[in-house]
Amino acid sequence: MRVFITGASGHLGSAVVPELLQHGHSVAGLARSDASAARLTEWGADVVRGDLHDLDGLRAAAEASDGVIHLAFRHEAMVAGDFTGAAETDLAAVRAIADALAGTDKPLVGTSGTGLLARANLGRTGTEDDTLPGGYRIDAENLVIDLAAKGIRSSVVRLPIVHSTLDTTGFVPSLITFARRNGFSAYIGDGTNRWSSVHTLDAARLYRLALESAPAGTRLHAVAEGVELRRIAEAIGRGVDVPARSITPEQAPEYVGFLAAFAGIDNPTSAARTSELLDWHPTYPGLLEDLSTDFYFRTA
Ligand SMILES: NC(=O)c1ccc[n+]([C@@H]2O[C@H](COP(=O)([O-])OP(=O)(O)OC[C@H]3O[C@@H](n4cnc5c(N)ncnc54)[C@H](OP(=O)(O)O)[C@@H]3O)[C@@H](O)[C@H]2O)c1
Repeated sequence: MRVFITGASGHLGSAVVPELLQHGHSVAGLARSDASAARLTEWGADVVRGDLHDLDGLRAAAEASDGVIHLAFRHEAMVAGDFTGAAETDLAAVRAIADALAGTDKPLVGTSGTGLLARANLGRTGTEDDTLPGGYRIDAENLVIDLAAKGIRSSVVRLPIVHSTLDTTGFVPSLITFARRNGFSAYIGDGTNRWSSVHTLDAARLYRLALESAPAGTRLHAVAEGVELRRIAEAIGRGVDVPARSITPEQAPEYVGFLAAFAGIDNPTSAARTSELLDWHPTYPGLLEDLSTDFYFRTA
């Protein structure tokens, strides 16, 4: 398949692009800068120069493809507090890609987050069947799923915390940066809330499987395990050589910045349906194992 990937130059993209190339697909990746274009070329992908705001460019690239994986997200806007703007750009991008794919039965794999399920206050482990009517990023997830009715083999991968030595800017490096700045590694309350997580290479395999064979309108969970935030904070404390310390939810914005909205959530999530449907079984190291090496502490 010739696959158009947005966000190809990012953390997930750095695993999804090689995963597709190694399995006989060709890749055209969206790049908004010379540096991103150079990364894609180095990995063996073709480059589509453009930006998420260039909707005509997204339509043209999607039209020229046999399938699309949409990974890009304006994290810079999100970190600066513009959650709404980032989500609106995402929705507009999905609509543009959908314009090009409607009626073709080509695959579109979108991206969402398991953390959004915590907003449903399920009080139990979340599954692929759990949905929300709308909200931040959920509108885009629901839109992608609804595209199944428009002749697109659409699916959504809900990602938890993604970790590995390919990760230099995600949740874990951010927590490490905050721990260094604060002089302690923070967790919320008693820290027993669980963060779902997955290794980048396991997540990349799921994106490929979804592209190749997910039935239209499928939600997928790229979840390997749930880890208590306190254990993550303690592992980070050991790596940074600072103590782990409890903070209140009210203190979270001061000590963990943009992560305040996510840090305290309890997010136990099952991937049982995903594993069964696509024969997807995580095999790479878990989050605490990755935090027991010096990678994150050298690079964050
Ligand atoms: N990593 C996680 O733990 C995690 C967890 C849950 C959900 N997710 C979601 O998974 C997806 C991939 O995440 P990631 O970790 O790979 O993020 P990332 O490393 O920040 O990569 C983001 C990608 O989007 C591109 N991008 C951002 N703004 C753009 C714009 N205006 N125009 C064109 N491209 C733009 C970036 O391009 P440049 O390379 O040029 O900057 C980069 O390729 C995102 O939707 C993210 O929200 C990730």
